[in-house]
Order: sequence, then C-alpha cells, then structure tokens
Amino acid sequence: MISPGSPVRLIPRSRRKFSNVIVSFLVILAVLWFLPFQQSIASQPATCEDIQDPLDPIKNDTLGFEKIFAISSPKRLDRRDAIVLGSSATGFHVDFIDEVVYEEESVKGNGPAKDLADIAAFRSHLNAVQRIVADRLASALIIEDHIDWDVNLKTQLKGFALGAQKIQKSNASYSPYGDSWDLLWLGHCGVKCNTSSPVQIMPHDITAVSSQSLPPYSYDAPAGTGNNVRVTCKMEEAACSGAYALRYRASQKVLATLALSTAPRPVKFEGLLSQLCRDGSLECYSSYPSLLGRWNWTSREAGPSDSIQETDSHASLSMGAMYSTLQNVRRLLAGASQVQATVEDALVPELNPDLFEVPYAVLRWTDEKGGHERHV
Ligand SMILES: *[C@@H]1O[C@H](CO)[C@@H](O)[C@H](O)[C@H]1NC(C)=O
Ligand SMILES: *[C@@H]1O[C@H](CO)[C@@H](O)[C@H](O)[C@H]1NC(C)=O
Ligand SMILES: *[C@@H]1O[C@H](CO)[C@@H](O)[C@H](O)[C@H]1NC(C)=O
Ligand SMILES: *[C@@H]1O[C@H](CO)[C@@H](O)[C@H](O)[C@H]1NC(C)=O
Repeated sequence: MISPGSPVRLIPRSRRKFSNVIVSFLVILAVLWFLPFQQSIASQPATCEDIQDPLDPIKNDTLGFEKIFAISSPKRLDRRDAIVLGSSATGFHVDFIDEVVYEEESVKGNGPAKDLADIAAFRSHLNAVQRIVADRLASALIIEDHIDWDVNLKTQLKGFALGAQKIQKSNASYSPYGDSWDLLWLGHCGVKCNTSSPVQIMPHDITAVSSQSLPPYSYDAPAGTGNNVRVTCKMEEAACSGAYALRYRASQKVLATLALSTAPRPVKFEGLLSQLCRDGSLECYSSYPSLLGRWNWTSREAGPSDSIQETDSHASLSMGAMYSTLQNVRRLLAGASQVQATVEDALVPELNPDLFEVPYAVLRWTDEKGGHERHV
C-alpha cells in the first residue's frame, strides 16, 4: 500500500505507469536470464564432491554415532575435565551421565562395599542404555570416565569400520560401521573372537600396542596377532566395559533382558553384554588390541601429583593407547606437530598425526575350500 506522503506519489501518474512497465520488463528479463542457468544446475549429475563417502560421519562430532555418553560421578570433576579436554582436542563431543551412587544404608543386606560399587556401576550403565531407548537414538557410544584414547582415534575408527563392514558383508547405508551390528566393543581388556567368522587383519598398524605393553587382558590374544598387528573381528566375549557402542534395537534387548526376566543376571554389566554377544542375542564386533585405552587415575589419587601431568614415557599413566590423547594434550595445545608414543617398544616413537592413514588391511576367512585372503 502506498501511504500518503510516500515518495511514489511525487511522480506524475503517467510516468509512474511507464516506470512500472520498465521495472516489470527488467524483472521478466532477469527471470528469463536465470531460469535456464538454474535448470542446468539442477539437472547436472552429482559431481564427485556431492557423493558422500559413507565413512565420512566417523569424522563428525559424535564419531558416527548419534550421541556419546560418558558415565561419570558428578564429584569427579577432574575426570570430567580430562574427558572434555581430550575430546575437544581430538574433535568429538561427549554428554555426561551421572554415575549412580548407593549409600551403604540404602542397600542393606547387599554384602560388602565392593558389591555395592558393582551394583551402582551396573545401574549407571543401564541408565545410559535406557537413555538410548527413551531418546530413540539410532546408536550411542557409552564410555567410562577413566578412558584414554589415541590421538588418531578417528582414523583408527575408519579402519575398524571398513573391517566391520566387510565382515558383516553390508554397505554403510544405515551406519558407517555397517548395517547389521548391534554392539561395537571399542574399549575392553580382552576379547574372544568368533573363529568361524572372517577377520580383518592390519599387519602393520603402528598404533597397535604390543601385547607386553598392554594392561592385563582377560583373554589370550586372537590367533594371527603379533607386534603392530591389529585384528577386527566378530566377537563372542569380552571383558571391561570401558567403551562400547549400542544400536537402538540392541539397547531395547538389553533392557528387556533385565526388566522382563527373573533369571539370575551377571554381577557386572560387562558380564551381561558378554553373555548377550555369546548367546547370539546381539551381533558384536571388536578389535584387538582394544581401540581405547585407559588412564591410571589411581596413581594420581595415591600421590600429590597434578592431574594430567607431563611425565616421561617411562612413567606413563596411559595404558593401551599408543599415542595417548591425555598424555599428549599439552603438546597438541602448544601446537606441536609431533605426538609421543607412550610405550617403550613403539615402532614410531614420535608421529605427526596428520600423516597417519588407515593402514593396509586384508580380510581373512575359511570355507570348505580352505583359507582365503584378500586386500580390503
Ligand atoms: C554423526 O553421524 C551419525 C551417523 O550418520 C549421525 O547419526 C549423527 O547425528 C552425526 N552427528 C553429528 C553431530 O552430526
Ligand atoms: C551395496 O550397494 C551396492 C550399490 O548401491 C549394491 O549394488 C549392493 O547390492 C549393496 N550390497 C549390499 C550387501 O547391500
Ligand atoms: C560365529 O559366527 C558364525 C557365523 O557368523 C555363527 O554362525 C556362529 O553362531 C557364531 N558362533 C558363536 C559362538 O557366536
Ligand atoms: C597405576 O599407578 C600406580 C602407581 O603409579 C601403580 O601402582 C598401579 O599398578 C597402576 N595401575 C595399573 C592398573 O597399572
């Protein structure tokens, strides 16, 4: 609407008409000019840049899962600091879930304090699983607050995903880690592979910690492993629930196993997950050695030292992560291009993480005709 006093009213009526015609003409001209151009953009076939690598989501803020939950006591702010700092330095985001604490009095008759801690830890993990179901998350990675990981985690996960996809014989149409997995046991202290299923072998992975430098594992190393060899496999059992990813339907199964059953359940949550992998309720995959390691917080609590201290590799507080994020975080923040290995027998004691790529890998399997191997 033209209000009184509008500048348009100052133009004589006839000239106004004329200027309207010119404006309309220009608009039509512009539309005609851009129309074929737009059409040609729309009808162009997708270029290389448009086609997404299905592994790309692994580089995103939640490592290709929908969420990452860290179970942690609200009182352990030092551990939360470490997780927040480390994850920001290596490019992912974590949401905290408060650890359940049971007071001695509230669970009377439940035995000694160690059992109480187990019960509380069990419930804490279950709360994380419940969250996946309640929030309808396609998948989530659940971590404990004492973990440590390699600065090359995203590249390591990419290699793991390639292997997991090949073993599942599936495309990454649903998840970058393949379409049929239920559980990915990424942080463990021992794993038992399914020997009748194909395995992915990386014969020269410089981030694979040798067995003598690993923290104690509950299972023997899988066949075919050795120094700097990494194996990705379909798994039957594992120990320690340091880090694992669950899909939505798997989380439902875990809840159903507990909520709707009167059968005796394992004391530890890792025992429950292990049982569900072993009996085939869940399709589980893992990597040997463990992809995520742990940080020795006990050492700090024993002495009057700083939290993330700069120690030499001989007194490393990191266990099971070759180029430990927490051990190297100060160097990373200082802009150093090299990170240091935390184990003495490292093949490459100093590494520029920008140069680390997914290592060469083969898929190995056996059928009625014998053993086979091919590059993947
Ligand atoms: C990361 O990728 C996964 C899988 O595609 C997706 O579910 C998730 O929402 C993504 N996260 C972010 C922060 O974009
Ligand atoms: C993977 O995707 C390709 C192309 O989209 C298709 O031809 C093939 O059948 C798929 N394989 C599986 C196992 O889904
Ligand atoms: C091992 O994997 C094979 C093939 O994927 C499966 O048929 C078998 O049930 C699995 N064995 C165990 C003990 O999980
Ligand atoms: C953690 O460090 C302390 C002291 O430095 C050591 O006694 C303990 O064995 C370490 N824990 C593990 C699991 O290595």
